[in-house]
Amino acid sequence: MGRFAGGAQMRYLALFALVVTATILSAAVPARAQLKPDFYAKSCPKLFFIVFQKVDAAIKKEARMAGSLLRLHFHDCFVQGCDGGILLDDDPRLPLGEKTAAANRNSARGFEVIDDIKGAVEAECPKTVSCADIVTLAAFWSVNLTGGPIWIPPLGRRDGLTANFTAAGEFLPSPFATNSGLKDAFKKVGLGVTDLVALSGAHTLGFARCAVHGVRLYNFNGTGKPDPTIDNGLLSSLQKVCPQGGDGNVTFPLDPTFAKFDNLYFKELLGLRGTLNSDEVLFTQASDTKGLVQTYAKNQTRFFNDFVASMIRMGNIKPKTGKDGEIRLKCRKPNSLLLEDADPLIQLVTDA
Ligand code: HEM
Ligand SMILES: *[C@@H]1O[C@H](CO)[C@@H](O)[C@H](O)[C@H]1NC(C)=O
Ligand SMILES: *[C@@H]1O[C@H](CO)[C@@H](O)[C@H](O)[C@H]1NC(C)=O
Ligand SMILES: *[C@@H]1O[C@H](CO)[C@@H](O)[C@H](O)[C@H]1NC(C)=O
Ligand SMILES: *[C@@H]1O[C@H](CO)[C@@H](O)[C@H](O)[C@H]1NC(C)=O
Ligand SMILES: *[C@@H]1O[C@H](CO)[C@@H](O)[C@H](O)[C@H]1NC(C)=O
Repeated sequence: MGRFAGGAQMRYLALFALVVTATILSAAVPARAQLKPDFYAKSCPKLFFIVFQKVDAAIKKEARMAGSLLRLHFHDCFVQGCDGGILLDDDPRLPLGEKTAAANRNSARGFEVIDDIKGAVEAECPKTVSCADIVTLAAFWSVNLTGGPIWIPPLGRRDGLTANFTAAGEFLPSPFATNSGLKDAFKKVGLGVTDLVALSGAHTLGFARCAVHGVRLYNFNGTGKPDPTIDNGLLSSLQKVCPQGGDGNVTFPLDPTFAKFDNLYFKELLGLRGTLNSDEVLFTQASDTKGLVQTYAKNQTRFFNDFVASMIRMGNIKPKTGKDGEIRLKCRKPNSLLLEDADPLIQLVTDA
């Protein structure tokens, strides 16, 4: 921690005050959602701080990691709910998992950071905190540490026992989708048009590969020409980085300030400088999403407020809170397999 300890401690205390306030406020309201911000207040009081320190260190090592961790939460939640499913490694004893689905293969990243956080959390509060909640908190701090808004993340999710390759293909939206295709994908998980536009603002962070940019650059939708709705300057930059038939793994930033959480992404869409097809169609293909893009481009506070509300809604997709889930001891394997594999480093207690 060293020279960051003071600031980190202050942030932690500030957040703690927020959580206490939220708890007092929510006590007056009848309990509806099962997730709650103070879920680990007694069982793992240092949780927020541990995750903060680890995410802070990971981002200092590689600025892109903030985006990668935020995206993991999205890809977790859209597929059978926020249940840590995306973290499970494929294993012949399990149904085919999510890591090798098209949207994740050679693309989803940050798994080592989650393993590292989980190790630190297990050392502090064994068998207590789910991997799904660790992903939620890693996303939360990634937004905060890159200059984005802070909120009170509801917690208490349990980890799923299996992941689902087919569901990842069915529920994760495609970067080649049209505006109405994107709306359908969000509707399938109970999210609306505001959620679609506000959460797409997450593309203020991180990178995308030429494999997904390529479709707009040379032969868009079978026309033999580039996408007509792309700025000429951006088109030539992208064509340089992503030559036809070149390496699909080369990356290009999703907005010019890929390590800063701000509303520049929306301003770029107004200038036809959204990099993915699924970004630009929010501006070019429908008046409702276009209106929101214009609003967020003008008013960052409004974007931050809507983003927070949508992150909480996304984090509430089908949480597992009962016997259908568990607290995984290692994020890459369900506990049943750890037991079978008799990992000598793990002492399993079956009453957990
Ligand atoms: C609206 C539908 C969405 C589509 C079609 C989409 C698609 C994509 C694609 C294709 C990439 C690049 C992947 C690669 O190059 O391998 C990407 C990156 C990213 N996405 Fe999305 N996304 C969507 C919504 C979201 C949401 C809701 C979030 C989070 C709340 C998000 C966060 C991110 C981030 C942060 C990155 C950069 C990751 C990194 O650099 O590692 N996206 N997205
Ligand atoms: C990050 O969160 C802390 C509270 O824990 C807050 O004091 C700080 O201002 C936040 N950072 C930003 C950029 O909002
Ligand atoms: C996996 O997802 C598919 C598609 O959503 C669904 O039909 C299937 O029942 C799921 N499998 C399991 C084991 O949940
Ligand atoms: C591609 O072209 C077809 C018509 O040929 C059209 O229906 C479809 O919306 C287009 N897709 C995109 C992404 O523009
Ligand atoms: C990207 O890299 C992976 C792993 O190194 C490789 O298997 C894959 O074929 C590459 N993908 C593209 C599109 O070049
Ligand atoms: C920006 O949005 C915030 C939050 O919705 C609102 O209070 C504020 O008045 C807006 N500012 C402008 C200039 O419209």
